Amino acid sequence: MNSASNVVFETARLYARELVPSDAENVFEYASDIFNSGFMPWSPMSMDDTKAFVKRGIADMIESPRKSFVLALCLKENDGFVGTVKLALEDDRRQASVGYILTKRFWHNGYASEAVRGLLRFTFLGLELHRAYACCDDKNIQSVRVLEAVGMRREAHFIKSCYTRVSGRYGWRSIFHYAMLQKEYLMGLADGDYSPNGDEGQR
Ligand SMILES: CC(C)(COP(=O)(O)OP(=O)(O)OC[C@H]1O[C@@H](n2cnc3c(N)ncnc32)[C@H](O)[C@@H]1OP(=O)(O)O)[C@@H](O)C(=O)NCCC(=O)NCCS
Repeated sequence: MNSASNVVFETARLYARELVPSDAENVFEYASDIFNSGFMPWSPMSMDDTKAFVKRGIADMIESPRKSFVLALCLKENDGFVGTVKLALEDDRRQASVGYILTKRFWHNGYASEAVRGLLRFTFLGLELHRAYACCDDKNIQSVRVLEAVGMRREAHFIKSCYTRVSGRYGWRSIFHYAMLQKEYLMGLADGDYSPNGDEGQR
């Protein structure tokens, strides 16, 4: 369907659009859920926290040059919100971190891998960045699978390197670092791993 006019990228089944204030209701479903936000460095959010998060995401749009893209992921078939992706550029605007979270009831449909493939296409072909990277708790198997499914390289495994909260408990966590260079992405395109038409989800 895709009736949105503020679309940043599309994949076979999804599109990623800019946030709007009414997304607070959508984001709240995952952000307030302790299980859904278990591996995130923040505590489950209140509705006020969520509104502030969405407001910051909207404010990012007018920053010049823009450094942060927090985008709503929606299903093409019915415009339903399934989660968010984030691209955070470094000051040199050559590298960026990628992040993603789906509302729990949409897990296990391949949407996360499809969305991150689309985000990488936007990163390397749209913004023409040099490198994308992601960090992930080594016990976050679903996230590891997403990063490996999209072809990011595991660069490091830092043991008990991060004192943070997981599932409500603070402790030292071990973290995987993944990355992909624009050059690697383009080589993947040449090998047919990615589609410039955005139908990666079909592969
Ligand atoms: C990480 C997250 C987005 C993944 O969502 P998802 O719906 O599982 O993602 P997908 O359906 O695209 O699945 C990705 C891969 O994980 C696999 N997978 C899904 N659930 C799995 C599980 N419980 N155990 C093992 N593999 C699993 C899928 O088979 C798929 O692998 P494949 O591409 O090799 O077939 C989701 O779990 C989430 O929102 N988690 C909370 C936020 C979060 O942790 N974000 C990442 C921070 S680093």
